[in-house]
Amino acid sequence: MVLEVKLYSGPEGRADRRFATFSDVSARSVREGELQQRHDELQRTYRRLAGAQEQLLQSEKMASIGQLAAGVAHEINNPIGYVHSNLGTLQEYTGALMALIEGYANALAADDPASARETIRGMRERLDFDFISGDLPQLLAESREGIERVTKIVQDLKDFSRVGRDEPMRPSDLERGLESTLNIVWNDLKYKVRIEKHYGTLPLVECHASEINQVLMNLLINAGQAIGERGTISLATGSEDDEAWITISDSGCGIPEEALQKIFDPFFTTKPIGRGTGLGLAICYSIVAKHHGRIEVSSRVGAGTTFRVVLPVRQPASVGVSDAPAATPEG
Ligand SMILES: Nc1ncnc2c1ncn2[C@@H]1O[C@H](COP(=O)(O)OP(=O)(O)O)[C@@H](O)[C@H]1O
Ligand SMILES: [Mg+2]
Repeated sequence: MVLEVKLYSGPEGRADRRFATFSDVSARSVREGELQQRHDELQRTYRRLAGAQEQLLQSEKMASIGQLAAGVAHEINNPIGYVHSNLGTLQEYTGALMALIEGYANALAADDPASARETIRGMRERLDFDFISGDLPQLLAESREGIERVTKIVQDLKDFSRVGRDEPMRPSDLERGLESTLNIVWNDLKYKVRIEKHYGTLPLVECHASEINQVLMNLLINAGQAIGERGTISLATGSEDDEAWITISDSGCGIPEEALQKIFDPFFTTKPIGRGTGLGLAICYSIVAKHHGRIEVSSRVGAGTTFRVVLPVRQPASVGVSDAPAATPEG
């Protein structure tokens, strides 16, 4: 039994008296114990859920990366292919040029160099020097471009794989993020989508750039998937007051009124298994909320959809980073 004892002093004039009350509070004590236990359980569950959500975020990120990996591999394979073939041709050209230089050297060393003119002319013709001298700079430029493209794709992939959660938010160039994200999903879009860009001037925005890239990637993939045969995706950026915004509009199928309220719900999808997980927009929502921003949508069935991501340029003081001269974008 649990007893609660209360002691009282006597009223005015009888202050020397003491009163005591005894109550049996066993039931209450048991209830309190139970409540405490429930509370502990809830807290444990909460921690488990938070952990599970983290895992979910990570696995959705991995899944969308996986989906894109095939496309990216193709995208890298193509330039590597022609750089390789160009190197073969360049090797041949180098052989021809060396032979020609040798010819010139021999001519110079001859007693009467002028008499070697015909030989040299013949060599130039046989080795197709005119063609080589035209083709060679082109091959080099093309190869350089190919290597640069591969480097760019690898850089963009690095931006994505960076977890970034434990890093502080840094002032970042959103437009650069949009461009590199577009570069990554381009393989999925290029055959059916025309891109329009209306970029305004954006200040650097304090954020986890890799997470914002993930938001943009999800929106771009959704926009591409909403377009059946051919269509347009317009990208626009701008800033007002202390906010920066990016809109991604597509000329796709649109979202019916009754679905519009559910699209940010985890696991809400209208896509066949394997194509949609229903997690993309839920993740966008939580990332943007974490950045104290908002994500707005307007849509007309049959006409298209616009998503607008609005982010504060600076995070509220408690989560922000030092005001140091951090004017360098993440990367
Ligand atoms: N740009 C868009 N156009 C039309 N419908 C969209 C668009 N973006 C999202 N949706 C709708 O919202 C749903 C949820 O999107 P999302 O959370 O990214 O999951 P998923 O793409 O895996 O289905 C989609 O299944 C689709 O019905
Ligand atoms: Mg999606």
